[in-house]
Amino acid sequence: MRLLQHDPVHGYELYRSDLIVTHHAAFVERCHYAVDKFKRIFGDKSSTWTFGSYNTFAMTAGSVIFYQLYHELCTVIRQFTKIDGPLWFQSWLNFHSENEVLDWHRHRNSIVHGYISIEPHQTKTLFESYEILNEIGNVYIAPSGQMHKVMVLERFSTPRITIAFDVFNEDNIAQMYKENKHVNLSVMPL
Ligand SMILES: [Fe+2]
Repeated sequence: MRLLQHDPVHGYELYRSDLIVTHHAAFVERCHYAVDKFKRIFGDKSSTWTFGSYNTFAMTAGSVIFYQLYHELCTVIRQFTKIDGPLWFQSWLNFHSENEVLDWHRHRNSIVHGYISIEPHQTKTLFESYEILNEIGNVYIAPSGQMHKVMVLERFSTPRITIAFDVFNEDNIAQMYKENKHVNLSVMPL
């Protein structure tokens, strides 16, 4: 992945995955396939709000491009966090129609949050003091906790697809299990 932007004021970085750009159609197809698989297990539930019950990179096992993306993502997260020790992450697929894009929210109890634009259409992600124009293959990564929402710039008719991720340290995991009685099946080692 190539670093496109490092913003020291807001603390985020933006990367471009040439892997996604080069294999864009294959990534979109695999995401559709993954969502079909998701529906066989979870029915009509949202692949966004079921984030604690699966991991994108387990759901796409067998896909070589997702295997490569996983390793690219691990490298970027390690570079960004500058942490060599144990880290874990959860990842889910946002697969949204124009009316389903996410309103203001934040990702708590994690050290880092980010998202990968597979098929972002013409959208931007608004944060409280900056905004990110979403383009195919872009990977946004930043400290967790900042409020954000998606804004549609141009109408679209096929699903908007992004892969979101939260990164946890040992304390985050301990806190997660303290707060939630259910088991989170999404978290995997990095
Ligand atoms: Fe988010």
